[in-house]
Amino acid sequence: MSAARLRLGLLGCGTVGGGVVHLIDRERERIRERHGVELTIEKILVRDLAKPRPGVDRRLLTTRATDVLDASCDVIVETVGGVHCAGAYVRRAIANGRHVVTANKALLADCGRDLFAAAVRRGVTIGFEASVCGGIPVIRAIRDGLAADTIDCVRGILNGTSNYVLTRIEADRLSFDAALALAQERGFAEADPSLDIDGEDAAQKLRILAGLAFDEPVVSSSIAGIRGIRHEDVIRAREHGRVIRQVASAHRVTGGIELRVAPVQLTAHDPLAHIRDEFNGVVIQSRAAGEITLIGRGAGAGPTAAAVVSDVIMMRSDKMNGID
Ligand SMILES: NC(=O)c1ccc[n+]([C@@H]2O[C@H](COP(=O)([O-])OP(=O)(O)OC[C@H]3O[C@@H](n4cnc5c(N)ncnc54)[C@H](OP(=O)(O)O)[C@@H]3O)[C@@H](O)[C@H]2O)c1
Repeated sequence: MSAARLRLGLLGCGTVGGGVVHLIDRERERIRERHGVELTIEKILVRDLAKPRPGVDRRLLTTRATDVLDASCDVIVETVGGVHCAGAYVRRAIANGRHVVTANKALLADCGRDLFAAAVRRGVTIGFEASVCGGIPVIRAIRDGLAADTIDCVRGILNGTSNYVLTRIEADRLSFDAALALAQERGFAEADPSLDIDGEDAAQKLRILAGLAFDEPVVSSSIAGIRGIRHEDVIRAREHGRVIRQVASAHRVTGGIELRVAPVQLTAHDPLAHIRDEFNGVVIQSRAAGEITLIGRGAGAGPTAAAVVSDVIMMRSDKMNGID
């Protein structure tokens, strides 16, 4: 099969960006054979040129964003994170007529509507599968798989750190602080875990999913984290046949959509009750298809890179835009 060449400019080469480099190296031939796309990485933006990056061609590295943004690339892959620099880079990529793939839920939560509008005006697409639940293709499931159906509710465990902490409190009889320290030691929590533990990370992902699933406005929104959860709370819930999980939910109410992130007691009948450790899960309730549950790894180099590179491959079919 003759393959179409897609030239990538990579912004960032940390956990996700490094994962993208390694995945493309490993899968390049199969992607060419199966999807007819020849992926090449033209340039990679980093902060620190001296940092060890095993398996990364150092000749591709630069500390100047314009070397990536103004190079002859078809797709800019944004994995720097944060809102300010990443936002400026994505805007420039769009203005330059480049397709964009991003894993950055904070950016989309902050200014996704403006970026998508700019992309539509410029005739380019933004892929963002990796921004919610890493390796679980939940965005494609809602946007494409359920395009014909009315969705009434989306509920999920969208934050692996919180789920890991709650699972360890229960399974290892740990205090909240000890479980969080274990999560940090094992790389499942940041040094500053506030965004995860206090629910904002899950709320950002929920806003993205709700934007895809519903046409109505958000009329009510609340966020509660898991910081106050004690081992005794988990044990008491278990005595009543329940488990505590941080659940993010979006469902129809009078006049629009209600968004809620909170620790919730789930019965054993609930698919989300069985999601343990750092795993994520999403339950979608739709009128024709009924209930659909997706479970998998919500973060990490491999799962997140798989979502990013799939978006790049899908650029060929060119129908990826639109949070709203
Ligand atoms: N980690 C995950 O499992 C995961 C999962 C889903 C989504 N995401 C999202 O993916 C994005 C990246 O996360 P990550 O974990 O890969 O972050 P990371 O490991 O900290 O990597 C960030 C990369 O960007 C570079 N960088 C950051 N700011 C820069 C700047 N101003 N100029 C130039 N280079 C800059 C860093 O350069 P140096 O290497 O030189 O420091 C590094 O290579 C975030 O939006 C995150 O929310 C991550």
